[in-house]
Amino acid sequence: MGKIILTGDRPTGKLHLGHYVGSLRRRVELQNAGKFDKMFVFMADVQALTDNAENPEKIRQNIIEVALDYLSAGLDPTKCTLFIQSQIPEISELTTFFMNLISVSRVQRNPTVKTEIQMRNFESNIPMGFFSYPVSQAADIATFKATTVPAGEDQEPMLEVAREIVRRFNQVYAPVLVEPTIMLPKKRMARRLPGTDGKEKMSKSLGNCIYLSDDADTVWKKVKGMYTDPKHLNVSDPGCVKGNAVFTYLDAFSTDDDFADFWPEFKTLNELKTAYRRGGIGDMKCKKLLNDVLNKMLDPIRKRRQEFEQDIPEIYNILKKGSEAARETAAQTLSEVKTAMQINYFDDFKYICNQAERFKQKAEK
Ligand code: TRP
Repeated sequence: MGKIILTGDRPTGKLHLGHYVGSLRRRVELQNAGKFDKMFVFMADVQALTDNAENPEKIRQNIIEVALDYLSAGLDPTKCTLFIQSQIPEISELTTFFMNLISVSRVQRNPTVKTEIQMRNFESNIPMGFFSYPVSQAADIATFKATTVPAGEDQEPMLEVAREIVRRFNQVYAPVLVEPTIMLPKKRMARRLPGTDGKEKMSKSLGNCIYLSDDADTVWKKVKGMYTDPKHLNVSDPGCVKGNAVFTYLDAFSTDDDFADFWPEFKTLNELKTAYRRGGIGDMKCKKLLNDVLNKMLDPIRKRRQEFEQDIPEIYNILKKGSEAARETAAQTLSEVKTAMQINYFDDFKYICNQAERFKQKAEK
């Protein structure tokens, strides 16, 4: 059994820098390092519909946006399987079976779901599908026997649920499924990128995102308006780095090479931080640096996006082929699952023969 990566996103909006540092950049590295036997990346449209049931068009539009984001960020359909969740009915089947292996109160304790319920004002009116999406997410992972799920730390509770269900399944039926582990982003600072406004999280609903598909002018406008240290009023004042979004972004995105390229007065980010703390470094200069760093990273992504946008039908073709390939793997797992659960009625010839024998003997008595 090989090492298998699976991860995905809800297609509810274009991908932003939070997605990029949180997971997308790592996925591309993992894909190219070739240390895994298989890699699946998918768009969780079924999960997206759990709180967008009345908005299917939004999901459909974002399928293509996210696909373009994936491909332009460097995911390569010859190296990893890109697919759409709803096209794999086996996932829904496994979800149904999984529902029996976990309790309502266990799902209720999930802190990520709790926060999301509050954010959506669902408290007294939670859609059943939304409530149970951690179970469906466990099925996403188990269907592909993923060993490794690269994701942000907000997904940790989901992985816990997935491991518990898989363990339970293997105990109750037969050891056919694989317990997955989460692979968190390497840089601690990058695990949860704040918004440009300095708020805890970059998120579309807070309107504090820089998108992978933003053009250079838009990025500069957003960077210029970024939250820094509100007490750093004069250039000569000492500045605070902690909680300063510009520095959090530099932590997440800049390399020593960037300093050589854009601000050779400093060799490393740590040197710049020391100077900023001492006083005498203007926020605008830091923002210019960040803008340069971001554009250096985003330019090749933008260029590829422009090329992919020329042939949209081909993007759908890539997703269709990926979904077909994913389905083959899913069907294999589900066949093992059904055998383990003894619901493989028509394939178990030995059982059919035994029963036939039993009823014959009964008739002969
Ligand atoms: N819950 C994830 C998100 O909100 C998306 C997702 C669905 C996922 N199924 C998954 C991620 C399986 C990793 C593995 O972004």
